[in-house]
Amino acid sequence: MKNPFLPEKIKILEVIPETSIDYTYVLALDKEVKPGQFFQLSVPGAGEAPISVSDFEDGKLCVTIRKVGRLTNALFALGPGDFLFARGPYGNGFDYRDFAGADLKVIAGGTGLAPVKKLIKTFAGSDSVSSLEVLLGFKTPEDILYGDEVRAWVQSGVATLTVDKADDNWEGNRGLITGYLKNLDLSDRARCKCIVVGPPIMIKFVTAELLLLKVAEDNIWVSLERKMSCGIGKCGHCKIGDAYVCLEGPVFKFSEARRLLD
Ligand SMILES: Cc1cc2nc3c(=O)[nH]c(=O)nc-3n(C[C@H](O)[C@H](O)[C@H](O)COP(=O)(O)OP(=O)(O)OC[C@H]3O[C@@H](n4cnc5c(N)ncnc54)[C@H](O)[C@@H]3O)c2cc1C
Ligand code: FES
Repeated sequence: MKNPFLPEKIKILEVIPETSIDYTYVLALDKEVKPGQFFQLSVPGAGEAPISVSDFEDGKLCVTIRKVGRLTNALFALGPGDFLFARGPYGNGFDYRDFAGADLKVIAGGTGLAPVKKLIKTFAGSDSVSSLEVLLGFKTPEDILYGDEVRAWVQSGVATLTVDKADDNWEGNRGLITGYLKNLDLSDRARCKCIVVGPPIMIKFVTAELLLLKVAEDNIWVSLERKMSCGIGKCGHCKIGDAYVCLEGPVFKFSEARRLLD
């Protein structure tokens, strides 16, 4: 029987700096994967961590990594032609069928954009959803991920972008993402489905506001970032109550996530 903890050696094809601390790695990894799923990435001697899939196409898979600690420091020392190790994909990911025919709103803060980037690309201009509105918030203009794609989404009218603070050179929106929720077209509450991804504090305030705007708990999806270890339901690190976030999540309907977090 194959050892489920055994990672594959994966070649790094390209490294794209997004910000000074967020890099996108294009990997030679051809796997069936869904947005919202994650891989356990590792570098020998530096440990292992769960990292979301940010894009995939033509036998290449992208991850966007923020340099915060031991493993991610080691990853940042690697470049094109180097190898890292990966096992996965793990987790449930987003199921596109949940959003068929919906007025879909994707609300993403900071690095929370990574797990939904492919989903936005898929639904933008697709008639499998009735409409798509994307609301993106970053701390400053320097923190914006996927600059070219985000600018294209804004120019095409799909996305609204705001930054918490910026100097006078910034001509775009300012202020917290919560301040822009009232601009979303929520006129058909039954058809409206919302995905909220970002830091826990952002998820907390955005979901509270959406509930006040009368969006049903069952029509809101969130992704929970828990400390994980095995990623395959064996170690219990990710457990909340009786739920294994690595297996049953990290994507949950808010009605379920709320039960877990209460
Ligand atoms: C499902 C899922 C998907 C994820 N997707 C992504 C992604 O796409 N991109 C991404 O960049 N990250 C993602 N993460 C987060 C990522 O897994 C963590 O940031 C991971 O801890 C990084 O590993 P590290 O070894 O580099 O950092 P660590 O060394 O584990 O440090 C992580 C953080 O913990 C702090 N820390 C470390 N040790 C201690 C200590 N002893 N006491 C107090 N604080 C400490 C560090 O200062 C740092 O802020 C995801 C997490 C989950 C659960
Ligand atoms: S991470 Fe080990 S059980 Fe979920």
